[in-house]
Amino acid sequence: MIRLGVNIDHVATIRQARRAKEPDPVAAAVFALLGGADGITVHLREDRRHIQDRDLHVLRQTVPQGLNLEMAAVDEIIDIACTVRPDQVTLVPERREELTTEGGLDVLGQHESVFNAISKLRHADISVALFIDPDSAQIDASKRLGAVAVELQTATYSEAVGTASIQRQLRVLEKATAHAKSIGLHVHMGHGLNYLNVKPIVRIPGLEELNIGHSIVSRSVFVGMDRAVREMREAMRG
Ligand code: PXP
Repeated sequence: MIRLGVNIDHVATIRQARRAKEPDPVAAAVFALLGGADGITVHLREDRRHIQDRDLHVLRQTVPQGLNLEMAAVDEIIDIACTVRPDQVTLVPERREELTTEGGLDVLGQHESVFNAISKLRHADISVALFIDPDSAQIDASKRLGAVAVELQTATYSEAVGTASIQRQLRVLEKATAHAKSIGLHVHMGHGLNYLNVKPIVRIPGLEELNIGHSIVSRSVFVGMDRAVREMREAMRG
């Protein structure tokens, strides 16, 4: 079965809107796990706009497995990751002015910083995935630099309009998955997935993990986090 990692950053965004104590992303993580999440994903950004260092530390104490830290390949955050030791790190590109992660990491262009980050994280026994575009050159470079997994960005698929364009993006993801698997990489996907567009994605052979945030947290406002996660699990089965 495909694993579901629930990204709870938006819960922290609501808390930071008031610099208050609630809602606590740690509570959201507990309810997400009760609803059937296999893991919890958080992005500790350099500007700390949502998840705080405290959240990561408490999550490490409360999430028994499947804690996935999204982060930029920068020394400050690498050091935090090596101390907290999440089960997995997913390296992502990060720009201060962006609303959310835009596009995949340019593994080819940022060869040195990515290699440096992977080496340090692997030394701390942390498994590393790279968030990349579904592109064979980026996949090959990820393997060369020592990643164990790639998270293929599904934003382009999610934003595609019209059947032909959606089908084209699905084929791109299918081809990239087959290529990554053929060279021994695990394949994850995420970004922009929701209760409707997830269905064709879960049929892609070789896909092992999804990371979904916005749609689940949005639904949780109305139905609660545990039910929102249960419903995503049902959507993934259907
Ligand atoms: N994967 C990565 C690498 C991301 O940066 C994000 C957004 O934080 C997600 C998955 C989840 O995307 P969404 O919130 O659109 O479901």
